Amino acid sequence: MTQQKTWEPPALVPHRAGIMNKFGDAPPQSSYQSDIDGVEIAQLREQYGSPLFIVSEKTLRENARRLRQAFASRWPKVRHGWSYKTNYNNAVCNIMHQEGSWAEVVSDFEYLKARALGVPGSHIIFNGPWKPNYILEQAVREGALINIDHLDELFALEQIASNQRKQVSIGIRLNFATGYTEAWSRFGFNIESGAAMNAVQRIHSSPWLKLIGLHSHIGTFVLDTRAYAVQARIMGGFMDKVERDYGCEIEYLDIGGGFASRNSLQGAYLPADLVVPTFDDYAEAIVNALKEITAKRSAEGKPLPTLILETGRAMVDDAETLVTTVVGNKRLPDGRRATILDAGLNLLFTAFWYNHEIKPLRHIDSITEETVLYGPLCMNIDVVRASIMLPALSVGEALTIRPVGAYNNTQWMQFIQFRPAVVMITQEGEVELVRAPETMQMLNDMERLPETLRHPFPAGLPE
Ligand SMILES: Cc1ncc(COP(=O)(O)O)c(C=O)c1O
Repeated sequence: MTQQKTWEPPALVPHRAGIMNKFGDAPPQSSYQSDIDGVEIAQLREQYGSPLFIVSEKTLRENARRLRQAFASRWPKVRHGWSYKTNYNNAVCNIMHQEGSWAEVVSDFEYLKARALGVPGSHIIFNGPWKPNYILEQAVREGALINIDHLDELFALEQIASNQRKQVSIGIRLNFATGYTEAWSRFGFNIESGAAMNAVQRIHSSPWLKLIGLHSHIGTFVLDTRAYAVQARIMGGFMDKVERDYGCEIEYLDIGGGFASRNSLQGAYLPADLVVPTFDDYAEAIVNALKEITAKRSAEGKPLPTLILETGRAMVDDAETLVTTVVGNKRLPDGRRATILDAGLNLLFTAFWYNHEIKPLRHIDSITEETVLYGPLCMNIDVVRASIMLPALSVGEALTIRPVGAYNNTQWMQFIQFRPAVVMITQEGEVELVRAPETMQMLNDMERLPETLRHPFPAGLPE
């Protein structure tokens, strides 16, 4: 495809080709990405338009298998709950379920989404700070694994269990300081203050509730595996105490999510490949700590708790790419080149904290230059990348942005733009549309106009 070059007033640009970066690499002027799993991106863009999200089924399944292998080879009972909030595209969820994951949901919306996909309640882990009564009633009826967040939820659940005349087995969410991550103390019951033990006592006193699990989620993009070892030790200590003091039998320890994906945090000095632990690294740290805390238990022949993981971003991030197109170029008053793309923060919430890998689709024979990438929103904050070395990009030139599989397709917003299509490249190399692009019709179908407001200019066009 030949592209017409856009005219730009002449400017003097320092020629940086050949100057090494901090790792000794030359600027990546020849770096490009033309295909995903052997499928030409340019062809997909032609067929489905731009912007376009592309999911790789192969990568997703490989990630799921690597996670399972890392943990199941070290601990006898492991379960993974797919964190719906990370990416609840139906095709993505069902790949995870086909790979053996349960659903991990945090709201009525997500619970209903999992049920609509055919996940039975008995395979849903229900977390989150707000579970409305109607959905708690359904979750109790359907045997979901509920981890409670606060006392009011405990009381509501007790009432529901009593109404349904059945004892409900539950878990509680804990929070505590690991010394490595900031404690997410707004979720669950705090161990250090005694709130968690008080909750256990309250559960113990209820004929309708039975404590069988402990849950916590220590943060997200946690790069230090030692944080998880501390988490496992603290949860293990708490397990021993509630079993000893209240005669509970803890069946599972749910350590939440938080493993880092192969993305680069803004401000990070080293690239993701050098700093992000592998699933094996995480598994080694967690399982060693678990073995330590359960040694006595094992010696006494007591059953070991099931280890539940709710890994989200590390599973899906690198399985999805966003294709975007240049819609304009300009020179900022300070001399920097600014390039405007058809995808911005409306689609790429994670651009707030990641420096994504961004590449053209083809080799572009020009010097690279520091460039600011803006999105299409009429808002100053819509910066996809504050500074990146890129070759000259004419209008119509396409770029890939990755990894973008985590949190973008759930936190994207329909703000002044339509949300685009999501396609999936299947294991067989076929292309499937897994989410249709939004249209004006779809959006207007949700609105209702009162009779008196049917026409913008009922009395005829104003002067
Ligand atoms: C309770 C819970 N589980 C799992 C996750 C998934 O976390 P991540 O995507 O960091 O693995 C989250 C994310 O916030 C969470 O709050």
